[in-house]
Order: sequence, then structure tokens, then C-alpha cells
Amino acid sequence: MQSIKQVLSGDSLDMPVRIRGWIYRTRSSGGIVFAVIRDSTGIVQTTVKKGTVSDGDFESASNAGIESAVEVQGTLAEDNRAPGGLEIRASGFKVVAFSEPFPITEYQSTELLLDQRHLWIRSREQTAVMRVKAAMLRGGREWFHENDYVEVTPPMITGVASEDSTQLFQIKYFDRIAFLSQSAQFYLESLIFSCERVWTLTPSFRAEKSRTPRHLAEYWHLEMEAAWVDNEGNMKVQEELVAAMLECAADECPAELQLLGRDPATLRKIAPPFDRMPYAEAMEYLQKNGFDALWGSDLGAVEERALTKDRETPLFIVNYPKELKPFYMKGNPDDPRTYKNSDLLAPEGYGEIIGGSERETDNALMIERLKDKGESLDNYQWYLDLRKYGSVPHSGFGLGLERMVTWVCKLEHIRDSIPFPRTVARVYP
Ligand code: 4AD
Ligand code: MG
Repeated sequence: MQSIKQVLSGDSLDMPVRIRGWIYRTRSSGGIVFAVIRDSTGIVQTTVKKGTVSDGDFESASNAGIESAVEVQGTLAEDNRAPGGLEIRASGFKVVAFSEPFPITEYQSTELLLDQRHLWIRSREQTAVMRVKAAMLRGGREWFHENDYVEVTPPMITGVASEDSTQLFQIKYFDRIAFLSQSAQFYLESLIFSCERVWTLTPSFRAEKSRTPRHLAEYWHLEMEAAWVDNEGNMKVQEELVAAMLECAADECPAELQLLGRDPATLRKIAPPFDRMPYAEAMEYLQKNGFDALWGSDLGAVEERALTKDRETPLFIVNYPKELKPFYMKGNPDDPRTYKNSDLLAPEGYGEIIGGSERETDNALMIERLKDKGESLDNYQWYLDLRKYGSVPHSGFGLGLERMVTWVCKLEHIRDSIPFPRTVARVYP
């Protein structure tokens, strides 16, 4: 048995081949069935001729509709009308399982495709996205391994909000309530005192009511935390990690990227260092471009789009005003109105993919900020403990994997970067 990718590599020309997969499309004309077969690696046309295969096999090929599972053997031949220029002339065609009429045909509404998500994920675009995502993850994992980071496993059920307590999913936890994690950051911070450099990939949950093309209620969060690293060092890690993920995607998935409309060469060109722009400068740029960008206003999707639409490489926005960011960030001594933090914006208008910062080490300052936000200190006692026993300068960040995939795969909506998107409107299938 060969994969379709192996068959199409060309080495098998005029040789016997055997493949298995699902019927992608099929038509018949005058004693010949043209069935295009799909497997996880690609598609190939097979021709099944009456008289060349057994009567039973011809009958099966004639009756098998889209998505029927099949096994085909035959000879690989050139045919410039076939996708890829090659086809398999069948000597045998076995149906493993006939498919009922497939509910997804061409030109379906977005809603129907979401209702049929468990079937729609078979599409070539969705398959390509999953492969690119897997390659990005592999590139990231290898980068962490090569740079002596320990992969750790924090809890997903928590008692505290790390980001925004209004966006927590609450769950019944025995006879109490608990929350689904928004970020593993606090747990990673506690692990640097033994492991020094840690990273993790976990689901994060955000009960954001926003119905936007870049928000999911559940997304995969790649986070790292490191001792002895300042904000500049934190950005260096981000740019190296992002470049390693892009390189792995370009190396392993050139065909998938091309299918999605992304030229892999544009990803290879992205190398550290990425530009850094202070928040204040971003505001000036926006004002010059017709925005009401007053100091202290947040950068939303529209503003981030304006800042990045003409760029080909990612951009760090650094030193945001304190009122826009969480209490745990380190104050910026050069401009006390701001933090030593960064958001990394993807180019081509895609916007934020990473949020990170150096962490505050002064408990008195953090307690003051928590009180200002009306948070109960009880919940944060263990976190504040971390600053009492040999606290060190440290930094970390969180990369939204689906945000990055949306950019890399040139998707219009984040829901297509994950097989089963969870949004305000949808938990089915
Ligand atoms: O900017 P955020 O909220 O930062 C944190 O959670 C930090 N505690 C991370 C850390 O320092 N360890 O989230 C980090 C990233 C964002 O930049 C974005 O890419 C992604 O997570 N993200 C989302 N992705 C999809 N849907 C959502 N609703 C998201 N919210 C955040
Ligand atoms: Mg953020």
C-alpha cells in the first residue's frame, strides 16, 4: 500500500501501485469510471474500465458515491487531464464501505458547514490547515527542547483569574465553584524556581462574548516562562520561536501552504529581529492615519490591522499603558505610565498573536493594583508567595496558536484554524 503522495512523486510511473482512501469525486462515461481518490496526503485520479477489472469491481466502482472508502490497484500512467498529470489505471477496485449520499456538496452555507463540522473536516483545506498546524507545533516543540526548556503540565481547573475575571468560565467543582484556565502563567511562574525555563501547550478558555473573526471560547495556548530574563530577552525568545515554527511549516508543508494560498517563501523570509514600536509611537501613527487614537485607548482588531497591513514581518508593540494590561506586569522605569511588556502583531493585517511581559517582583505594587481592580487578595495569596522566597527577575508570554495558524494559512476566520471551534454560538458538534 502506498500513500497518494508517494504515488504522485513520479517514481512509480508505469509500475503497479496500490492505494486506499475515500472517493473525492466520481463520474462515469461509456464504460469508464473516473474516480478521484483522496487520502491524508493528497488526491489522485483512477480510471476503472469495464473489461479491465472484474465485473464485480466495475459494478462497485459505478455504484460507489462520494466518500465511499475504497482500495484500488493498478498501473500509474501519465494523463495530462488528471490532477497532478498522473492517473492510476485500475486493475482492481474494492469498496471497503459504501457511503450514504454525502450531506456536503459544493457551495454550502457557513452555518451548514459548521453543523456538519465532523464531516467538513475531511475537506482538503481543513486537512492542509491541520498539517500546517502540526508542523508549527513540531517546530516550536523542537525549539524549546534545543533551548533547554522543560515542558510542564499545569492544571486547567483553577481558582483564580489570571487575565480578566469577567471572562471566566465557571464550573461546578464538587461542592464549590472553580474556573477553567485562561492562562497557565501563574503556574508556570511557580515552576521557574525549580526548572528555570518552562513551557506548556494547553487549552485556554475565554468567556468573551465577542463574535469576531479572531476570538474562540477555547483555544490552544503555547506559553513559556523563564527566570533571569527581562522584557527584551522575552522578545528574543518570541522571535526565535516564531521563526522556528514558520520554518518547520515551510519545510514540511509547502504543498499544503500553497493550496491555502500562502507562498512558503514569504514565511522563510521572516527572521529575527522583528521591529519594535512603542505604544506611544503606534498611537502617533494611528492619529496620522485618521484614527482617534488617544493615549490610553486600546488597540483593537481595526487598529492592529492598520499598523500591520503593509508589513511582511511581525511587529512588537512595546510599553502599553498600565490601565490596559493586567496587574502582574513589571513597571517601566523609563516611563512609569507604562509596563515592560509587548504584544506581537502578525503582519498583513492579522494583528496580535502573542502577549508577554517581564513580571512585577514587588508585592506591594501588585497588591495595590489588585485592590484598585477590586480583586479579593485571598485568591492571590499563593501567587504573591512566589515573590517572598527568593524572587528573581523573570518574563514570559502566551502565543495563541489559532491566531498564528489563521495568519500562516491566510484564513478569513479563526474558526477554520481548529477542527471543532468553540464560539459564543456553538458547542455542537
Ligand atoms: O494576551 P493574553 O490574554 O495573555 C495571557 O493570557 C498571558 N497570561 C500569557 C502569558 O504571559 N503567559 O493571551 C495570550 C494570547 C493572545 O496574544 C492571543 O494570541 C491568544 O492568546 N488569545 C486568543 N486566541 C483565540 N481566542 C481568544 N479568545 C483569545 N484570547 C487570547
Ligand atoms: Mg493580549
